[in-house]
Amino acid sequence: MQQEQAFAAPAQTLTPFSERLIAWQRRAGRHGLPWQGTRDPYRVWLSEIMLQQTQVQTVLRYYPRFLQAFPSVQQLAQASQDQVLQLWSGLGYYSRARNLHRAAQQVVEQWGGQFPRDPQQLASLPGIGRSTAHAIAAFCFGARESILDANVQRVMARWLAFDGDLASVAAVRSLWQQAHELLPRQDLQRAMPAYTQGLMDLGAMVCTPRKPDCGACPLAADCRARLQQRVLHYPVKTRKLQRRALTWLWLVVRDAQGRVLLEKRPARSASGSIWAQLYCFPCFEQQEQLERFQIACGWAGLPLKWQAQFRHVLTHRDLTLRPAVLQLPVDADADALLPSSGMEQAHAPNPLQWVPVEHILAGRWAVPAALLGWLRQGWLL
Ligand code: ADE
Repeated sequence: MQQEQAFAAPAQTLTPFSERLIAWQRRAGRHGLPWQGTRDPYRVWLSEIMLQQTQVQTVLRYYPRFLQAFPSVQQLAQASQDQVLQLWSGLGYYSRARNLHRAAQQVVEQWGGQFPRDPQQLASLPGIGRSTAHAIAAFCFGARESILDANVQRVMARWLAFDGDLASVAAVRSLWQQAHELLPRQDLQRAMPAYTQGLMDLGAMVCTPRKPDCGACPLAADCRARLQQRVLHYPVKTRKLQRRALTWLWLVVRDAQGRVLLEKRPARSASGSIWAQLYCFPCFEQQEQLERFQIACGWAGLPLKWQAQFRHVLTHRDLTLRPAVLQLPVDADADALLPSSGMEQAHAPNPLQWVPVEHILAGRWAVPAALLGWLRQGWLL
């Protein structure tokens, strides 16, 4: 009888999901990143915010500089928004930087400079969603909470062959519950950081959207999507993000000293909060508005040189940018020409200033990545 049971047992008994994942992370995951090896919530939080929608390679260029400028949450809270945006310039998704700044101020004012340990309290801070709150709590405090960003949704949906449509709130709620069930149960202080990092690493390096490397996956043996030979079928998500197309005309005014005119973009404009509070060339939706601005500045007779238009994709917008360069003559007194009051409603009189192009190229101004990329292509040389 005993013999028979031994025979009926699976040829290979699998260790639990979490143990395999942790062992794989220790062996093959990412190590030595500057935000690893610390349990300081300020450092972990900063990295998690920077890593949202941004590649590790890019964050590696920004993270140390940011920490050097603001070594503590108190210093970040005391900074001006311009300083914060300047250090964020080029990373994109600038609402992250504005929320980061506000969250730092709340940590100082409401929590005496100490990040709360409770994930729900963490998630009450601006810019910290449930998954980010859980990541911080797991990395810093060993909290038994799962992350579930888009990469991890994919890993989970595949391993479980989860058929629910992740466009629906109910399906996402169910996946959260199932992800919770899979969490480690012992030695949480050590296990939770490795497990959480393992989920991130597996999603980024192995269980990728289009070319998953199932041969390298520690979870492949009982991955239901793989057993069904339908790995690419998961995750199921019907609603595609709709991006609205928008065309902006950029007026690139350059004076004889190599300075360009930048406006500080408003917190909100008619087209939403694109590049809110960043410095940008004046933007117009209609040529007529641009021309009215040109007239208000006294530059009506000067020729506009239209440059090649280009696309720039944002989360909710598909932007087409059409730059027009306007060169001021040597004898123009650029400062005297700046429009002040009395501007047409058609273009809100946002604060304008002259900025040397090389200062922008040196990263000293908080400008959109699209503007920096355009300048770097040498259009103004
Ligand atoms: N993406 C989000 N958080 C991350 C982390 N801690 N390490 C690597 N990639 C990540």
